[in-house]
Amino acid sequence: MKYSSQAVAKPYFIFALILLAGEILFGLLMAIQYLYGDFLFPLVPFNVLRMVHTNLLIVLLLNGFMGATYYLIPEEAERELWSPKLAIITFWVFAAAGVATILGYLFVPYATLTELTFNNLLPTMGREFLEQPLPTKVGIVLVVVSYVFNTIMTVLLGRRTVITTVLITGLLGLAVFFLFAFYVPENLIMDKFFWWFTVHLWVEATWELIMGAILAFVLIKTTGVDREHIDKWLYLIIAMTMVSGILGTGHHFFFMGAPEYWLWIGSISSAVEPLPFFLMILFAFTMARDRKIQHENEIALTWAKGTAVIAFIGAGVWGFFHTLAPVNMFTHGTQLTAAHGHLSFYGAYIMIMFTMISYAMPIMRGRPHGNSKPAQKRELTSFWMMNIGMIGLTLALSAAGIVQILDQRVGTDLIGFMESQESIAGIYTIRAAFGVLVLAGLLTYFSSFFMKEENA
Ligand code: HEM
Ligand code: HEM
Ligand SMILES: [Fe+2]
Repeated sequence: MKYSSQAVAKPYFIFALILLAGEILFGLLMAIQYLYGDFLFPLVPFNVLRMVHTNLLIVLLLNGFMGATYYLIPEEAERELWSPKLAIITFWVFAAAGVATILGYLFVPYATLTELTFNNLLPTMGREFLEQPLPTKVGIVLVVVSYVFNTIMTVLLGRRTVITTVLITGLLGLAVFFLFAFYVPENLIMDKFFWWFTVHLWVEATWELIMGAILAFVLIKTTGVDREHIDKWLYLIIAMTMVSGILGTGHHFFFMGAPEYWLWIGSISSAVEPLPFFLMILFAFTMARDRKIQHENEIALTWAKGTAVIAFIGAGVWGFFHTLAPVNMFTHGTQLTAAHGHLSFYGAYIMIMFTMISYAMPIMRGRPHGNSKPAQKRELTSFWMMNIGMIGLTLALSAAGIVQILDQRVGTDLIGFMESQESIAGIYTIRAAFGVLVLAGLLTYFSSFFMKEENA
């Protein structure tokens, strides 16, 4: 490790991985409820499991981003973090708030939770991904502000690079667009319209910058390719992201009460969105081909390449499937959406986190050349288990979505929702099986952490 303050990344990474295990576990519990409706009834209803699953996802990704930033910023800025102490304090604040919130979801009925947490003063609760009680939302703002401030101060006092500029732009966007979580218009159309300013402009604009910056950092470190070469790619990827992603928000404004011109704006702009994801594949593979060094941590580069590929498939390809208005009219809100939601979140954001952890964690554990070969081999096994698991889960959900569309939206002989769901039960069993594979993959990954170094 070049700078001792980089070590603050470690608790963030470890906590993010623990939350990931929790997220997947809750996903599995839901998958079982899909098959046995009264599983865990009346202890934990589906809506609570779903809320915990998606909220854990958001919290773990924020943790992952913070860890990644605190690790890479000192090295890029060539100086210690402005305040490592602040980074540690916010870790504990965020962890405590996160755990308290999840316990609240699990043990307090949601309606009671709204009353206990002052939702009547400023109503913000009850929207997908943004269910957090007001105090938690305020806590997120404070933590994010301190995180962005710490990052900016470090860079201002040190070296500025394209990577730090892109990263900070992404972080500022993340912070600003979260503010729409506090704005809940009474009109349901307006509500949805602004809700997407947080959700879409996070995953399809600002987070993409964060992802691009982390990917570039790990590629520089593992391939030794010149910075100038990498910078050009990064600029191109970021420009394409902004051009397509911002107006691309329109692909959520079809048939929901927004003006009709969104059908055109949303379809055309978002059809370009797969492009930056495709560029990331070219970027990663070109850098790997032209590499100047053979870094012993080979698995980190494998994760980097894998991230680019799976993100393109999950976000680019599966996103494109339903992004044109005439198609979306049939697919909207079916399991096809969930299929895309799973592979995109996993491929882009969970995997970029694995990429960074895989590169940085061995160094923080005193292994500058990466983990031992057997440990890397075990990690590679887990890479394939998780990828195959998530792809299988995605294909199963896609099949479920197609059956749903044929059952309920095409032709005249249509059947009801529950009847259609009944006809998909077999596919839901397959989904659950692939979910088990994902969990097994994650546990395999964890086990690679505990392999002894001497085996090298
Ligand atoms: C990493 C990037 C991405 C992530 C994490 C992501 C995630 C998601 C999620 C979770 C949803 C479901 C939201 C909900 O209704 O609750 C969704 C919906 C959608 N996504 Fe993405 N997405 C990404 C990129 C893309 C791209 C690049 C496209 C288009 C090319 C796209 C097109 C869509 C469309 C059209 C919907 C609405 C589906 C519907 O009408 O039901 N997404 N996305
Ligand atoms: C890292 C892996 C995972 C990520 C990133 C993830 C992400 C998500 C997201 C974004 C949603 C909301 C989707 C939407 O409304 O369109 C969701 C819902 C869900 N997830 Fe996951 N998930 C993961 C793993 C799993 C696993 C392993 C399972 C179990 C097989 C699972 C089962 C579910 C279920 C059943 C839902 C609820 C869908 C519904 O409302 O019908 N997830 N997940
Ligand atoms: Fe979107």
